[in-house]
Amino acid sequence: MDIDPTPRTLTHGHLPDCLALARDRGWATEERKWAFLLDNGTGYGFFDDSGALVGSTIVTRYSGQHAALSMVLVASAHAGRGLGRRLVEHALANADCPVVSLHATALGRPLYEKLGFRAVDRLVTHFGPFRDAALSGTTRSALHADLPRVVATDAEVFGADRGVLWKDYFRLADQVRIGPSGGFAAAWRTVGSLALGPVVADSVDEAKALVTDLAAGAEGALQVSAYHPELADWLVERGLERRSGVDLMVLGGDVGGDRTRLYVPMMQALG
Ligand SMILES: CC(C)(COP(=O)(O)OP(=O)(O)OC[C@H]1O[C@@H](n2cnc3c(N)ncnc32)[C@H](O)[C@@H]1OP(=O)(O)O)[C@@H](O)C(=O)NCCC(=O)NCCS
Repeated sequence: MDIDPTPRTLTHGHLPDCLALARDRGWATEERKWAFLLDNGTGYGFFDDSGALVGSTIVTRYSGQHAALSMVLVASAHAGRGLGRRLVEHALANADCPVVSLHATALGRPLYEKLGFRAVDRLVTHFGPFRDAALSGTTRSALHADLPRVVATDAEVFGADRGVLWKDYFRLADQVRIGPSGGFAAAWRTVGSLALGPVVADSVDEAKALVTDLAAGAEGALQVSAYHPELADWLVERGLERRSGVDLMVLGGDVGGDRTRLYVPMMQALG
């Protein structure tokens, strides 16, 4: 099959193609995640001459300051022929932001290193039922009126304004909770688990309280990707299994913000 050498823009209508590509690479077919990312970012894809999507990536831009790159996938039948590199180069040329970050798998990291990205942190995913979830009694459900403060704190911690995204994230999330010291955390349902993120907190104790209270209302497995080793160890004590890790990589400057307060990213795809 020949491949059209010009990347095309992916829209919500390409959702089934994206899910088929994810399946080909053994990724979970997370329809809600792809839909959210395609609706809030710009997807780029390569197609073969039968019309099948054979490569994808999505760029999410934050106020012209920072762009997050995600969903970099090349169909296994077309691997190792330069498609991944061309896709990422195309996305970077269109990112229109001074700083670009991503979470890299072991397969993706060599490609990003060649393009100048450097690893600045490590994120480890934890998965499974949360043991002994009893409410901490220190957090509360967020109200719509909390949105401006959440957006402002998120901008301080992440280093770029993600206000536009947050409006939609409040709709995606099953729950958003507010911590006792101005922290907050959200949870949304994906395939086979309740995914937590972001968790923004003033201390590891506030982060634990937010996670506990989100877990208390959950059925089945929880999925939490943690930057901080102390939170990660505590998740294992609570019964979650440590899974794969990815590297936070950045190009063009520093990630910025006050990362010590970002315990869990919004999603791996969003930083
Ligand atoms: C990562 C992925 C997108 C790469 O796509 P690809 O089309 O096979 O990659 P390319 O052929 O464009 O190779 C990109 C570059 O990385 C290099 N590279 C790839 N794997 C490498 C490895 N294991 N060690 C060193 N270099 C490697 C290639 O040599 C190439 O360098 P060059 O352009 O200087 O020749 C693809 O393997 C994939 O979809 N993997 C599964 C999903 C995944 O993990 N995605 C990354 C998410 S962060």
